[in-house]
Amino acid sequence: MLGVFLSGLNLPAAYLPPSNSSRCTFGGTGWKLRKIRSFGVDPHGMKTTTKSRLSPYYCTVIAFFGIFFNVYSQAQQTSSLPENWPNWAYGYLEPLMEGGRIAPPCPIDAKPLDCAYRSPPATDDGLKFSLPGTSLSFTASEADYDYGPADWYPDDHPLMPAVVDQGRREEKIRACSLCHYPNGQGKMENGHVAGLPYSYILAQLEVFSKGDRRSADPRKANTNEMMMIAKSMSEEEKQIVARYFSSINFKPLVNVIETTKAPQVRMTMNGLMLPIEDMPFVPLGNRIIEVPTNPQRTAIMRDPRGMFTSYVPIGSLEKGKLLVETSNNKTIQCGICHGPDQTGLADIPSIAGRTASYTMRQLWDIKQGTRKSLIMVPIVTNLNADDMLSISAYLASLPP
Ligand code: HEC
Ligand code: HEC
Repeated sequence: MLGVFLSGLNLPAAYLPPSNSSRCTFGGTGWKLRKIRSFGVDPHGMKTTTKSRLSPYYCTVIAFFGIFFNVYSQAQQTSSLPENWPNWAYGYLEPLMEGGRIAPPCPIDAKPLDCAYRSPPATDDGLKFSLPGTSLSFTASEADYDYGPADWYPDDHPLMPAVVDQGRREEKIRACSLCHYPNGQGKMENGHVAGLPYSYILAQLEVFSKGDRRSADPRKANTNEMMMIAKSMSEEEKQIVARYFSSINFKPLVNVIETTKAPQVRMTMNGLMLPIEDMPFVPLGNRIIEVPTNPQRTAIMRDPRGMFTSYVPIGSLEKGKLLVETSNNKTIQCGICHGPDQTGLADIPSIAGRTASYTMRQLWDIKQGTRKSLIMVPIVTNLNADDMLSISAYLASLPP
């Protein structure tokens, strides 16, 4: 009873992995007292309680303290992230500092949209935009409509299932096509779902809905929303979308340039990086800067045929290739499972030609333990941030 009560109130922290929780045991049936933190994400496992079993008395005291603390302190406290944090992969140029802004609270009973960063609705000035290769035209707000965004190229994909096309408004599930596009090509700040194996899509919707795939970066609200979308979908809906996206071919998405300089960028609220016009390039340093090749088309018109340009450090492609192909005694050759061209094998997804930001986030999230993947954990154990950056750059450069 108390457990049920608590898990109802324990808000986002309910998604904490067991390693971040102290286990309280009452008469044989254990329930978890989650660590009391802002979004509940203690990504690098710092300050994690190590005591594995606490006395019932101690538990009760902390439990009630926990309720009040949790309810009143959501999203207020943040600790800074370690220095080697790949901020660029999560759509940030700056590290998260103590007290910095993190994603809105995403309680376990939230509707998906409640977990998102919200901006004021776009004002529609009636100006219609067009794109090459289509006779359709849309205003910026039509292109960006949560429950039925523009479908510029209806011939590029099969007929969209309702949830892909429009989402489900009463449940605050925004259309899959808003973030992943009708053709599933997706963007750097979300994911590329076209051509993924049917069973893999289902498996990921399952891990999202169980809270076993979260972002290690407490700022990343759209992963929370994705988690809640998966949680709100019916089994039938999941099968329909898995069939839909798996039936579409994933097309080239990224141009990779090895360089020492990259454009200056600004970020949209959800982590899409956009180059700042007419500004000189700046030293790239040890990060990847990924921007839409045609920023206006991607940011405003949401062009599903839009590509990305990834500026990657000199030498990263060669280093990445070495790790991917030979493992360099640090990991396992990726091709054994992901196929000789890294384009997937049976139920194992393709990792070729996807944005470097996406790949880096996955490897990093798996390493931090917020994306649970038993099979991938040993692959990343001995890889550091630099290795992962190189792997992500190299994989982005491969044909899909
Ligand atoms: C608000 C934006 C948003 C919407 C709407 C959305 N997603 Fe996502 N989705 C994401 C984000 C963000 C990720 C990747 C998170 C990360 O970085 O791990 C993702 C990842 C995924 C993945 C995992 C891809 C992979 O390669 O592992 C699948 C599958 C997926 N989404 C399916 C869907 C379906 C189906 C819908 C509609 C019912 C949907 N998404 C709606 C944002 C969204
Ligand atoms: C032993 C098999 C195996 C090996 C070796 C392997 N992977 Fe994976 N990988 C998987 C499986 C299976 C998944 C699907 C996730 C899951 O089931 O948890 C996956 C998922 C991924 C994902 C997430 C894909 C997505 O759509 O989100 C990335 C990125 C990835 N692997 C990269 C790599 C890289 C890079 C290497 C080599 C350094 C590698 N993998 C080696 C089995 C493997």
